[in-house]
Amino acid sequence: MRTGLLKHSNYMEFLRSVPSFKTLTEDVLSKVADVLEETHYSDGDYIIRQGATGDTFFIISEGQVRVTQQKSANEEPVFLSTLSRGDWFGEQALKGEDVRTANITAVGDVTCLVVDRESFKQLIGGLDNMSNKMYESEEVKARLEAEAVFFSN
Ligand code: CMP
Repeated sequence: MRTGLLKHSNYMEFLRSVPSFKTLTEDVLSKVADVLEETHYSDGDYIIRQGATGDTFFIISEGQVRVTQQKSANEEPVFLSTLSRGDWFGEQALKGEDVRTANITAVGDVTCLVVDRESFKQLIGGLDNMSNKMYESEEVKARLEAEAVFFSN
């Protein structure tokens, strides 16, 4: 079913306020508003599990989530970050391998706007800050690997 007019205009208003979407045209934002699914979570719910396969992209419209990551199989997940309204996550599994790189859990009530892989690719994935997004843990890893190559030559 097509999104109702009022909902659509509410989504548009919110999407316009997301800093990372600043360069998206009204036309593209309107298409995002058409395809997104609103989802709700309660405190402690797993929105994403590290290691699972996934093909959805999330924008937080209400509430907060925690990002945690297990560095190796027998270690407890460590806290990485808190994300809130206007932040997004889930883009990593949509580029290259489709495996989730971290856990995302709800802190209190959370509402997300969820975009499927195909729509993400067509409408959002081309943004520089999506396609190049690297997190510190990966940057550190990439740097260490580069240094190891450098010093072994
Ligand atoms: P994805 O791997 O699809 O699912 C887990 C998400 O957590 C990941 O995409 C990123 O959006 C997000 N994520 C991973 N690492 C970090 C980090 N260090 N800080 C904030 N978010 C992260």
